[in-house]
Amino acid sequence: MMEDKHLRNVYPVSWVTESPRFIKYIEKWHSDSKDNLLVADFASGEHDRIPTFFTKELPRLLKHPPASKKRIIVYCTDIHALRLDSLLGKLEEDDLLNNVRVVHAALETMDTNAKLRTPSMDFIKDNPDIATWLDNFLIREQAFPSECFDVGILNADVVGYMHEYYKEYSDALIGLQKVQRLIRNNGLLVVTMPCSLYIVDNIAVLEEIGFKYLQGVDINLSSGEKTYLEKNVKPTSLSKLGHYTFLIFTKI
Ligand SMILES: C[S@@+](CC[C@H](N)C(=O)[O-])C[C@H]1O[C@@H](n2cnc3c(N)ncnc32)[C@H](O)[C@@H]1O
Repeated sequence: MMEDKHLRNVYPVSWVTESPRFIKYIEKWHSDSKDNLLVADFASGEHDRIPTFFTKELPRLLKHPPASKKRIIVYCTDIHALRLDSLLGKLEEDDLLNNVRVVHAALETMDTNAKLRTPSMDFIKDNPDIATWLDNFLIREQAFPSECFDVGILNADVVGYMHEYYKEYSDALIGLQKVQRLIRNNGLLVVTMPCSLYIVDNIAVLEEIGFKYLQGVDINLSSGEKTYLEKNVKPTSLSKLGHYTFLIFTKI
């Protein structure tokens, strides 16, 4: 896949295309699957970079035909309703509501309580042709079922934040176990900028709850040098200033 400097600056997560494991997974979906690719941006906050990259830029890189029946759909979830409403404003402005959903849910309880924000729900009801099986499930059950996502994203040191900053009202372990429950067997989990703010051994924590580490990549942003990361990489060496780091796991 072509590297594109502008893309890397605007959507740092686009560095994920440097991972052969990620590319293999996505190309397999692109060539073999008849179904939509369902992606979760867990604890998305108010930023639209993940859903925009996955629904607009990745299909362009894949040369995915716009008229194709199968699509990449991103579900953004967060515990903070106001952050989600701010995200909705951006998505509406960029005309992305066809392929992005905004869901109010705490990680710990998203298997029993997950509500589409009203504008997201109204958009689906006004455009029933865009509804996925998961939209219909969410509208009916107000919860996420097990194994509903092909790919999960924890963007910007979510594992660290959950263990440190959000410790008072979040239970990191239960939250991450629910992330694991919602990803399909053999699906992917992409963790970006681990340890950028809080040093937690992301690989140990995620392997302990049933993920298998596949590959990590560190990119030196000024030289473009790429380093593949072994499983025993030191947490303190990840996501250094001037670097972009991500880790890829699968669910076993
Ligand atoms: C480090 S930020 C990551 C934000 C986002 N992923 C990004 O790329 O900017 C943490 C986010 O996690 C959300 N959060 C914290 N605890 C949560 C929980 N238990 N369930 C769901 N979201 C949570 C916060 O509201 C905040 O938006």
